[in-house]
Amino acid sequence: MKKLILSAALLLPSAAFAQPSSHVAWTADQLNFVKAGNPQKGEELAKTCSACHGEKGISASAAFPSLAGQLPTYLYKQLQDYADGSRDNAMMSGLAKTLSKQDAADLAVWFGSQAPAFQSRTVMVYEKAEKLVKSGSSERVLPPCEVCHGGDGKGQAVDIPALSGQNADYISATLKAFKDGTRRNDIYSRMRIIAQTLTDEEISELGYYYQNIKK
Ligand code: HEC
Ligand code: HEC
Repeated sequence: MKKLILSAALLLPSAAFAQPSSHVAWTADQLNFVKAGNPQKGEELAKTCSACHGEKGISASAAFPSLAGQLPTYLYKQLQDYADGSRDNAMMSGLAKTLSKQDAADLAVWFGSQAPAFQSRTVMVYEKAEKLVKSGSSERVLPPCEVCHGGDGKGQAVDIPALSGQNADYISATLKAFKDGTRRNDIYSRMRIIAQTLTDEEISELGYYYQNIKK
């Protein structure tokens, strides 16, 4: 019950972040459009992504996120956010503008259907991260990460991404970007509110914690 109250509090739009954070609205039509993406066409288009995200969506460098096995709806939203400026990145923004909405849906469905990344089998304990993931922090009114991202980090429909197997460096970098507001495309500021309370040490541990979970 406590968990539910805490996460409900996070869903309330905050006056500090009044402007819309994304132009994607998850209507039934929008969902069906993404679901109907054509994976064969997506596979063709994905050749232009492979230099950074790997041939099958498992990225070659820790600086680039892996896309394999990610929720197609999450991937589609990110591509729209880059294209309309809701999310900025020197490498992605220009490229996303060249894709039609249909291209984005085709790519999202193909990458989502690929076998997910799994970086490392090292068994390590990240105590601070584990506590945040499983229990949150009552002093900071933080719900556990797993309330939204799932106990196994697999994400949840519609827009909560999978984190398991993702590159630790990318996870930390994007958490820092939510923390300082350079990434601001999370609807209802759900991640910015959380990231603002995290220390750099916790952010770094959280990256390794999720990288080491098998998807
Ligand atoms: C030159 C390298 C490069 C190329 C080519 C590239 N990307 Fe990216 N991509 C990146 C980087 C770097 C990021 C992380 C940017 C950030 O932090 O916002 C990223 C992020 C993404 C994300 C967000 C992932 C997440 O977990 O939030 C998606 C989706 C994506 N790229 C899709 C694509 C697709 C589809 C293509 C091909 C059409 C492509 N990218 C081509 C470098 C690249
Ligand atoms: C209230 C629900 C909620 C909680 C709790 C939550 N998240 Fe998120 N998280 C989201 C949503 C929604 C997004 C997608 C934002 C967007 O649309 O870009 C997200 C995105 C992310 C991303 C970006 C992934 C990518 O591929 O770019 C990371 C990393 C992340 N969350 C980590 C965490 C961590 C670590 C915690 C716990 C400290 C946490 N989240 C708790 C809802 C939540």
